[in-house]
Order: sequence, then structure tokens, then C-alpha cells
Amino acid sequence: MDKMRDGNSVKNTETQRHRGAQARWRAAVGSVSLCLCVFNAVITAQTKPVAERIQQCTVCHGSDGNSRVKNTPSLAGQPEFFLLNQLVLMREGVRPIEPMKPYVKDLQDSDIEAIAQYFAALEPKPSEEIPDPALMQRGAELAASLRCASCHLPDFAGRQQIPRLARQRMDYLIYSMKQFRDNTRSGADTLMSNVVAGLSDADLTALAHYSASIRSEK
Ligand code: HEC
Ligand code: HEC
Repeated sequence: MDKMRDGNSVKNTETQRHRGAQARWRAAVGSVSLCLCVFNAVITAQTKPVAERIQQCTVCHGSDGNSRVKNTPSLAGQPEFFLLNQLVLMREGVRPIEPMKPYVKDLQDSDIEAIAQYFAALEPKPSEEIPDPALMQRGAELAASLRCASCHLPDFAGRQQIPRLARQRMDYLIYSMKQFRDNTRSGADTLMSNVVAGLSDADLTALAHYSASIRSEK
């Protein structure tokens, strides 16, 4: 009995010594990872996390990237490169949008890439605006003669630097086409201005009713 007890007590002290060493090792590792945490916090304090930035965009552009605000475009399902391109233009002040300035001025290239990828992957949904069948018909005729599909693709989903029009807000489509026509969108691509040059407000409205309501795969 005594022998066994002695044996046990030797074992116990060995275990205790071992545990002591483990605890010291853990404390050392712990303080190293604590240092890393502090270091990371310093880095992220300078560059806001992308999720936080996206959250700010959705206040105006919609929680799912589909805007419910007049004249404010939906971003959901836009070609990734179009978003990337526009955000660079906005950051550099080439396409200045007053209410957006505080949100784009300090975007890093990596933020822009992540933001563009995020919104491009969201599902575009039709807005609450109701398209008028007669205007849609007139818009279809105009779109065919002006060959909108040659650039925006037959389903108007856009590609590369050319934006999606399908399921975009109609008020924004009208607003932006007026800007192209009247040459008031700075940094605008002249290809697009040439297409709508000379069209009436009624023509642009018809084009918007048609474009927004085209069914696209995505
Ligand atoms: C305070 C409201 C507001 C906030 C916040 C905001 N935007 Fe905008 N954004 C707008 C408005 C309004 C327009 C259209 C203005 C115009 O064309 O004159 C716009 C236009 C855009 C466009 C052009 C889309 C197109 O189809 O031409 C992109 C891209 C965009 N915003 C991305 C973003 C991103 C990304 C963020 C967050 C970093 C953001 N916006 C934050 C209001 C906002
Ligand atoms: C030659 C190619 C081309 C043709 C044809 C064309 N577009 Fe465009 N469109 C563009 C490009 C490129 C842009 C992006 C312009 C920019 O970045 O400034 C654009 C942008 C737009 C925008 C702005 C959308 C936004 O989200 O900012 C609208 C609206 C639009 N086009 C409608 C039309 C309609 C309607 C037609 C036919 C009447 C048409 N486009 C024909 C190339 C074209």
C-alpha cells in the first residue's frame, strides 16, 4: 500500500511539474499572440474592414444592392469590371458624386476589388416602379434602331465596362441617359453620349421602361 502510495506521489509531482511547464509555455505563447492581436488592431484601425465599407454603401444602394432610393442606382448584378472602373473614376474625382465622396476617397485598390466582386455577385431585382406597356413598346423600337444590344448585350445584362440596364431603376436610367445626352456626366464614355444625342425626354423615358423590364438570365 505504502509503496503504491509513494509511487503515486512521485507520479503526481512529475505531472505537476509537467503541468507547470505547460502553463508557462501557454503564458508565453499567449503573450506572443496578444502582441499579434494588438499589432493587427493597429493595422485595421488605418484601413476600415471591407464589410464595414459595404455596409455604408448599402444605406443608399439597398441592403441587397437593389436601390429603393430615387435616382440612386442598384449595384446588384452589375458587371464586376464596370463597378471597379466606376469606383476608380469616383475615387480619383473623374466622376465626382457629391454624396459619395466621403465613402470613396480613401478606398484602397483591394477594397475596390472586394466591393466590386461583392455587388456583382448579388441578384438584381426589379424596382418598385411599374413599367408602362405602351412605353415599353416604343422603347423596344428605339432600342432596336439604336442598337443598344450591340453593346449592352441582348439581355441588357452588360459586360466589361458596359453597365447592366435590365432591372435597373427606371428613374436612374432616365436620369443617367439625360446626363449622357446633355454631356453633364463627367468622366462619361463618349460612345454612350453619341448614341443618345438628339433624343427627346420622351424617347429616353420609353427606353428606360423597355430596358429595365427586359428579362435577363442573371
Ligand atoms: C449617400 C448616398 C450614397 C452612398 C453612401 C453611396 N452611394 Fe454610390 N451613388 C449614390 C448616388 C446618388 C449615385 C448616382 C449619382 C449620379 O449618377 O449622379 C451613386 C452612384 C454609384 C455608382 C455608379 C453606378 C452606375 O450604375 O452608374 C457606383 C458604382 C456606386 N455608387 C458605388 C457605391 C459604393 C461602392 C459605395 C460605398 C463605398 C457607395 N456607392 C456609397 C449615392 C450613394
Ligand atoms: C457603342 C456601345 C453602346 C451602345 C450602342 C449603347 N451603349 Fe449605353 N453605355 C455604353 C457604355 C460604354 C456605358 C458606360 C459609360 C461610362 O462609363 O461612362 C453605357 C452606359 C449606359 C447607361 C448608364 C447606366 C448606368 O448604370 O450608369 C445607360 C442608361 C445606357 N448606357 C443606356 C443605353 C441605351 C438605352 C442604349 C440604346 C439606345 C445604349 N445604352 C446604347 C455603351 C453603349
